[in-house]
Amino acid sequence: MSRDELAALQLERLRATLRRAYEHVPFYRRAFDAAGIRPEDCRSLADLARLPFTTKADLREHYPFGMFAVPGSEIRRLHASSGTTGTPTVVGYTDRDLDVWAEVVARSIRAAGGRPGDRIHVAYGYGLFTGGLGAHYGAERLGCTVIPASGGMTARQVGLIRDLEPRIIMVTPSYMLTLLDEFERQGIDPRSTSLTTGIFGAEPWTEEMRREIEERFVIDAVDIYGLSEVIGPGVAQECVETKDGLHIWEDHFYPEVVDPVTGEVLPEGSHGELVLTSLTKEAMPVIRYRTRDLTRLLPGTARPAFRRMERIAGRSDDMIILRGVNLFPGQVEEIVLRTSGLAPHFQLRLTREGRMDHLTVRVEARAGATAERRVAAAGEVARGVKDGVGVTVAVEVVDGGTLERSVGKLRRVVDERG
Ligand code: DLL
Repeated sequence: MSRDELAALQLERLRATLRRAYEHVPFYRRAFDAAGIRPEDCRSLADLARLPFTTKADLREHYPFGMFAVPGSEIRRLHASSGTTGTPTVVGYTDRDLDVWAEVVARSIRAAGGRPGDRIHVAYGYGLFTGGLGAHYGAERLGCTVIPASGGMTARQVGLIRDLEPRIIMVTPSYMLTLLDEFERQGIDPRSTSLTTGIFGAEPWTEEMRREIEERFVIDAVDIYGLSEVIGPGVAQECVETKDGLHIWEDHFYPEVVDPVTGEVLPEGSHGELVLTSLTKEAMPVIRYRTRDLTRLLPGTARPAFRRMERIAGRSDDMIILRGVNLFPGQVEEIVLRTSGLAPHFQLRLTREGRMDHLTVRVEARAGATAERRVAAAGEVARGVKDGVGVTVAVEVVDGGTLERSVGKLRRVVDERG
């Protein structure tokens, strides 16, 4: 499909989505009326910018079913977002939504290098989280054999990978590191497995983490993005042949990048907050949904019809403001992984003394790191953060295995400021 053909399809689908939302979801009708715009006023894709945003708070206010655009009898499945940042939000799918979801995940696995007949180990959690079931039905749709391992029971995961010999694993990058520890604990060389490809997402990770995982397992590690409010995994996927950011499946999801403060749409290539509009969803269309994820849009490469988004730099709500300086966990991840003697396991602990906030980076030493190396490494990380981010932090190098391990999405920041 050419960019022009895609744009025509997007506009047609966008207009249908706006009509559906206006007619069936009172929230959208009120929001459009208040903005003085009717669905038929949207005559070009640029007109989308005239519509109001939808936020997580809007979805919460209409918990559980207030954003649905179809009768309950047409809802075939419900999922809920993890709710780590407040009340959960419930999302619904019609038969057709489930079909589209399987399709975009199948496309994602294919872009990651998967082929019909491959065995895929799914270690994203099954249940209300969209990761497990989303990956599962996409893998089946592509014609793969699914091993529905879900998250947890780490020792058994390693046994399954050894015995059932999957070629692909789908898991959060932090849980992949937990699996890495377990391979080593069981005395199995992680490079000796049948795995050739990992499809990692559901949390931010960095190029340095990609290198760590690729080298330790000798696999290709690619990025998958999505969020439950929009559909789940499969909104965007990195192609294995280029590993240069994620192609957005724009025939189903329309991206904009806006200034997180003013909400103004930014020109292509500028960094800002990703805003997504669903183009085909029936049960719960979302219009200009503020993801809070920070990225930028770039032209397509391996799939030229679709634009790419750069790997997510962080979420605006994960941003730590320390004595006026903004810091993302990913910036610390890059520095830790560049420092010899340190393992890729770290935690950011925020405390308050008097009126001053302090940040301590607690990071594990790699096996075999000497006492001198540990001291030097602590200094290198503190200097790296000071030079790269501009703020003073304390660094504590702890023994391997001290910090809590992830079984799904990892919580990096421990806020003890009260
Ligand atoms: O995490 C869906 C998913 C499952 C995506 C499996 C990929 C793989 P939620 O629980 O609703 O849905 O969380 C969505 O997770 O807004 C981002 O902040 C973050 N996130 C998801 N994928 C990535 C990624 C699933 N590849 C929220 N890189 C999103 C960085 C990601 N952050």
